[in-house]
Amino acid sequence: MEIGKIHNENCLSTMGNMPNNYINFIITSPPYDDIRNYNGYRFEFEKIAKELYRVLKEGGVIIWVVGDSTINGSESGTSFQQALYFKEIGFRLHDTMIYYKNNPMPQTGNRYHQHFEYMFALSKGSPKTFNPITEPTKYKGLANMKNRGQSGSLDYEKVERTKEKKVGNVFFYSIGGGISTKDKAAYNHPAIFPEKLVADQISTWTNEEDLVYDPFMGSGTTAKISHLLNRKWIGSEISQEYVDIANKRLNMYRTNNLFT
Ligand SMILES: C[S@@+](CC[C@H](N)C(=O)[O-])C[C@H]1O[C@@H](n2cnc3c(N)ncnc32)[C@H](O)[C@@H]1O
Repeated sequence: MEIGKIHNENCLSTMGNMPNNYINFIITSPPYDDIRNYNGYRFEFEKIAKELYRVLKEGGVIIWVVGDSTINGSESGTSFQQALYFKEIGFRLHDTMIYYKNNPMPQTGNRYHQHFEYMFALSKGSPKTFNPITEPTKYKGLANMKNRGQSGSLDYEKVERTKEKKVGNVFFYSIGGGISTKDKAAYNHPAIFPEKLVADQISTWTNEEDLVYDPFMGSGTTAKISHLLNRKWIGSEISQEYVDIANKRLNMYRTNNLFT
């Protein structure tokens, strides 16, 4: 199995060449609900879900980033159906996280603006690796009895400390031209991940040298970020046009010796 390569084929073919329990971590955004027409390609969700389970190592995690389209006035619910199907075939629904878009496309009609997509964290058994992102938190309080005053009362010192705490499971990203990535070539693909989202998830669920797979590689975001974070990677992308976009993007890093 050639790694460090985007295989220009249906991801079912790529996974067909992988042994069982091979991949440490999967992050992907599938084509959902025909919202966009990726050059006419379709995907077979149930077959792909079963293959993802087979090739993922015990303790491995998938981050499945999806939303729903609105059909005849109703949201499709495809995202929930997929999450429940993953559970049915053996995955744990470890965490339903939110990818919150700070600046979504404004929408008309009698609904609030659509600000988020789901990021389902699905695991095969209990996740083996969890390197949580943290943020500083300040707390003030009374602590450390210093002495007993003449009155017999207790004197406490006022303290202000900074501690680190895990961030919440809503992840906020700004998106769009020049923000999701600085790589201009990537914008020839219609639906790219913000690079920061991929970096946050890869660093949470993997360690260096782990093997990352993206079955719907699109413009190559997962490949680029995996490499920059010293993870091995494999990708599948069915469209030759998008593989060319991704390789063009990745070549910029190869020539700068950031990418080999
Ligand atoms: C939402 S896009 C992924 C974008 C990617 N996350 C990025 O940052 O550029 C989904 C991609 O899946 C590809 N695709 C659709 N069906 C596929 C299949 N069966 N196997 C592999 N790729 C497929 C489409 O061509 C499209 O580029």
